[in-house]
Amino acid sequence: MHEANNSARRITDAQIGIHKNLALVVKKHFRNQHKKPIAKHTQDAFDVVKDKVEVHLKAGKSLIFDSCCGTAMSTQIIALENPSALVLGIDRSAVRLAKETNVKLPGNVILVQAECADFWKLAVGAGWQLQKHTILYPNPYPKSKHLKRRWHGHPAFPDLLALGGELELRSNWKVYMDEFCEAVKILEDKIYGCRSVEELAVINPLTLFEKKYQENGQSLYSCKITLKNTLFT
Ligand SMILES: C[S@@+](CC[C@H](N)C(=O)[O-])C[C@H]1O[C@@H](n2cnc3c(N)ncnc32)[C@H](O)[C@@H]1O
Repeated sequence: MHEANNSARRITDAQIGIHKNLALVVKKHFRNQHKKPIAKHTQDAFDVVKDKVEVHLKAGKSLIFDSCCGTAMSTQIIALENPSALVLGIDRSAVRLAKETNVKLPGNVILVQAECADFWKLAVGAGWQLQKHTILYPNPYPKSKHLKRRWHGHPAFPDLLALGGELELRSNWKVYMDEFCEAVKILEDKIYGCRSVEELAVINPLTLFEKKYQENGQSLYSCKITLKNTLFT
């Protein structure tokens, strides 16, 4: 069985179908607050961008997160498509983010080296609301025992939803998308309109992983959700 990978390999030997404990895990995380302390480097990264983001929000302008952005190819495309928005590309890997150091980024992009779970928690605590949030090709963690590492099984899931906005996830592993959509439906008494999972017909890849998977002839999936409000803040 292989783990989340950095190649264009298909996920062939993973958990089959939606995890039987999904509802239990999701409901538990909504009952209990995520208490893990914030990593110092993420607190520092948040403090660096906080004022700029808040001036932008106070001016009534939009904020977009591109979480787990890797080399930030998607961050740049999204920023060019949304010139009046401030777009934060967030990734924990300094190596991946550093690949963009020689590229002139659009003026409305900020790259942030941070743990997403902690950064989301700080953003929710500060009352930030997003117009749009992309999580493109997150590490799939396809082994059944790793449900809690996937974003919908993670203690940070309530914060992710509380950030609001138009949320889009993409993956080459359909189970991740089905599970994410199901996790949102488990909470449907509280929130959202959740569109079902769709197979993508990619013409212009948004990310390097998307490009690799496409060149490898893999099926790619998207899950889009409109988060209606901030019930969890
Ligand atoms: C499979 S790559 C996808 C990168 C990019 N979105 C793409 O499609 O090319 C997953 C990315 O998520 C980042 N990542 C994984 N867990 C993270 C976390 N907890 N906080 C921040 N970044 C994380 C990794 O560093 C990696 O760059």
